Amino acid sequence: MKLWGGRFSAPPADALDRLGKSVHFDRRLHAEEIRVNKAYARALAGAGVLDAGELERMLAGLDRVGALLGADPPPPLDDEDIHTAVERLLFDEIGELARKLPTGRSRNDLSQTEFRLYLTSATASLVEALDRLRTALLARADESADVLVPGYTHLQRAQPVVFGHLLLSHFWALTRDRERLEAAGRRASASPMGAGALAGNPYPVDREAIAGELGLAEVLDNSVDAVGTRDYAMEFLAAGAILGVHLSRLAEDLVLWSSAEFGFVRLGDAWSTGSSLMPQKRNPDGCELIRGKAGRLIGNLVALLTVGKGLASGYQRDLQEDKEPCFDTLDTLRLALPVAEGTIGTMEVSEERMRAALSWDLLATDLAEYLVAKGLPFRDAHRVAGEVFAYCERKSVEPPDLDPGTLRGFSPAFDEDVKAVWDYRASVARRSVRGGPGDIRSQLEAAKRTL
Ligand code: ARG
Repeated sequence: MKLWGGRFSAPPADALDRLGKSVHFDRRLHAEEIRVNKAYARALAGAGVLDAGELERMLAGLDRVGALLGADPPPPLDDEDIHTAVERLLFDEIGELARKLPTGRSRNDLSQTEFRLYLTSATASLVEALDRLRTALLARADESADVLVPGYTHLQRAQPVVFGHLLLSHFWALTRDRERLEAAGRRASASPMGAGALAGNPYPVDREAIAGELGLAEVLDNSVDAVGTRDYAMEFLAAGAILGVHLSRLAEDLVLWSSAEFGFVRLGDAWSTGSSLMPQKRNPDGCELIRGKAGRLIGNLVALLTVGKGLASGYQRDLQEDKEPCFDTLDTLRLALPVAEGTIGTMEVSEERMRAALSWDLLATDLAEYLVAKGLPFRDAHRVAGEVFAYCERKSVEPPDLDPGTLRGFSPAFDEDVKAVWDYRASVARRSVRGGPGDIRSQLEAAKRTL
């Protein structure tokens, strides 16, 4: 069945037909397609286009088509798109009456309404999966709130922190991702139905009632915008891409931490993989795949932005390219989030290995701060501490073994109490301003409040 053809003398070429077909992916919208069609049928009845008996038959027919499309296994479909399939199947169910349903409506407003509907629930399901990961991260952070570990910048030892603080750094990024996903869901929640192909609907259909029945928060105010914009899908893909980048950073941390060189964590057997050749291997494939999936999540965003750029206003067929990137982002995140959750939830944390990785150079800044407390300006204290560490390196001595006399050769400000500097836990505890590792208890409380 074709939805058009009256003015053509030849059917479309097979190659063109194949290029234009979207049913293999837009059939995912079948449940939403039925819901939107039912809402529209009611609006048509409200507008006097269908009488009460016709509406009743139409709704019952749409329900039967919905059941057919939702069957397991799903029926094969060879139509151009899900809209064509539903029109055909509805005709099979209720005959000629089916041909009244498209009155005043276009696939342009129909496809957009159901896609928006789909994305609002898709974002909600992703938020749930993301919250399970956030919950797992927070629990592990809570357990390791006192576990000292080197903090790194440039992947070089920098200053001591606690492991829970590192885990919480990911928690907050994922918390913002949650907000972005929710915002994308809210943005999608607007109804194009009634926009027609681009010029609106000539029948007095109640657009607010359609939106209300579908649970969409608002009605789009301009019919050309309603069928032509994909900004809400771009926002969804942007939220997904940023989340993907954040997951990739978490995954990379786990890859590093689980290497023998770090040994900070050991991934559970259920979340590791073996090698077909090397019997000893326990590989972090899950983390690597999560890291790798960021590539396609970013690609999906770039794909749709590129499709939208420079398009003339209103509907252009290019816009049919909106769905696959969104489905792929959704599927990818649905795969990746539970793996991140399981990996984090089950990893063994090695307090001993983290402790063993601490070295005195992590306290060089503290040494400078000691001198600041004795009255030196920070820049001078920084230079002196640097000289002390260079000296220790040259002489192969441990900084805590330097006697105050030697230290006074670097600055007369050094005193007996310099010994107190060589304490990793005290260093962390002093960094107790809001957001610092010494303030992790209130940070944990704040994180809990977001769940
Ligand atoms: N499958 C199309 C899409 O998703 C539906 C709209 C087709 N409209 C048209 N005028 N050819 O964009």
